[in-house]
Amino acid sequence: MGGDNGGVLNPDATLCRTLAADLADARFRSEPMRARWGVEADDAIGRTLRTPALRGLGDETDPQAVLARLLIFGVAQPTAHVDAALPTLRARGLVELGLARFDGSDTVPTAIVRPQSFHDDRGPGEWIIAADLDEIATGGGALAEDHVLGVGGASLTLAGLQLPTAAGRVLDLGTGCGVQALRARRYAEEVVATDISSRALRFTEMNALINDTAGIDVRAGSLFEPVAGETFDRIVSNPPFVITPRVQGVPAYEYRDGGLVGDALVERVVAGVGDHLAPGGTAQFLANWETKDGVAGLDRFRAWVEASPVALDAWVIERESLNPIEYAEMWIRDGGTAPGSPEHDRLLTAWLDDFAARGVSEVGFGYVLLRRAAGEPTLARYERVPQPIPSEGALGSHLADVLAAHDAQAALDDEALLARRLTTAADVTETRHYLPGAENPTVIELRQGGGFGRSVQADPALAGLVGACDGELTIGQILGALAQLLEVDERALTASVLPAVRALIDDGFLRL
Ligand SMILES: C[S@@+](CC[C@H](N)C(=O)[O-])C[C@H]1O[C@@H](n2cnc3c(N)ncnc32)[C@H](O)[C@@H]1O
Repeated sequence: MGGDNGGVLNPDATLCRTLAADLADARFRSEPMRARWGVEADDAIGRTLRTPALRGLGDETDPQAVLARLLIFGVAQPTAHVDAALPTLRARGLVELGLARFDGSDTVPTAIVRPQSFHDDRGPGEWIIAADLDEIATGGGALAEDHVLGVGGASLTLAGLQLPTAAGRVLDLGTGCGVQALRARRYAEEVVATDISSRALRFTEMNALINDTAGIDVRAGSLFEPVAGETFDRIVSNPPFVITPRVQGVPAYEYRDGGLVGDALVERVVAGVGDHLAPGGTAQFLANWETKDGVAGLDRFRAWVEASPVALDAWVIERESLNPIEYAEMWIRDGGTAPGSPEHDRLLTAWLDDFAARGVSEVGFGYVLLRRAAGEPTLARYERVPQPIPSEGALGSHLADVLAAHDAQAALDDEALLARRLTTAADVTETRHYLPGAENPTVIELRQGGGFGRSVQADPALAGLVGACDGELTIGQILGALAQLLEVDERALTASVLPAVRALIDDGFLRL
């Protein structure tokens, strides 16, 4: 079952650097290539369609076109053209790296090598990432069970979520092609990248060399085994959380499936992560959680956190929830089996049987942030955030800001908070909704332009307070003035508004 992965990878430092230099000379970069085949064809690549981009390249034989066909789209090229496109490495070097093989007078790719643009607090950048041939490059068909994933949507989501603040040691658990490790290394002195797949670790070594990034230490082993007894300032992971029925004939893809039943792998990560975090250290990962026997997935997650032997702050964000049919469809398709075939029907039946037998009615997906609490945890936030997020790929700096704001407000008692001057964040706007002809609004909505793009309903007192937070008056002074204006008791107003003020600080609407 499934396809075959390519040759044995050889992350030789000289060959990797030579490849990087030849690719740079050929302008093997996202932007010039996107410009070449056009935005529509580029969007189609995201839907696994390579034909429009290949049409855009026509039969040009310049280095950029040859390399795009070979390394991005997985199309064999005449070896003479590859030699000309990689004048120092030559096609032979690609074969020695394990990224291609010869077939007569052609060079046939056995892996993809793609430019991947990114943006973080330090500005825009681009990586070159090698990984196994995917559906774009093979044109379809089931994947090999030991397939090493390239950079996908989830990889970019987690890379964007990573806190852009300095860290000493970072663990990337389940590194795959190493994209999280590369991202983490921009802010960390040392990264340990682990995986059960030796092929994944060789891709990670190769990608570190191609991207001229030292300080990534690769280690083989399952979950926390390779880092027993070690602690980290940060742990990032896009773990193999996908739920797979444990029955004969259902492929268990290493890249997405940790081999346990249901969401037990995620539970295991939560149970183990605290021991590997330095005090104050933060773990960020993506996960699935099942709604099971009527218990909501987020509530089950909360129970895992509360059972941790190490006290953890927790912020868990459910971005979407799928019913069993939708979930099975998505992951069967991801494995390369299209609907409408007997194989698809067989797999769908296996998934639905498994969910039914275990009492699973929904599967949530989302982002997890756990922090080793210095004392008592102050953060226990389990929420659904279904709305579109303005810049989902760059949430890390927002997370860093609101975590710092939360810590600051949590350290203030009510009296101290009342003495502070706050400002309303620049991206906050207010909308008032009136019944036709009414003098007073029925709904006042505060909306955030950045961050999670949240909107909250406010009563006139809270809206008045947010409107008055320009750093001049303290919260206590503003509430005193509002109590007079609204002719209400100041103490009662303060008691009702302060929790909302804390929540608005936590969400980034108000700044301390
Ligand atoms: C979804 S991929 C993530 C790859 C990459 N970190 C990213 O963000 O794109 C999950 C990775 O976990 C690895 N993996 C699977 N089971 C594992 C285990 N028990 N312990 C550690 N890694 C595992 C897989 O080989 C795969 O590389």
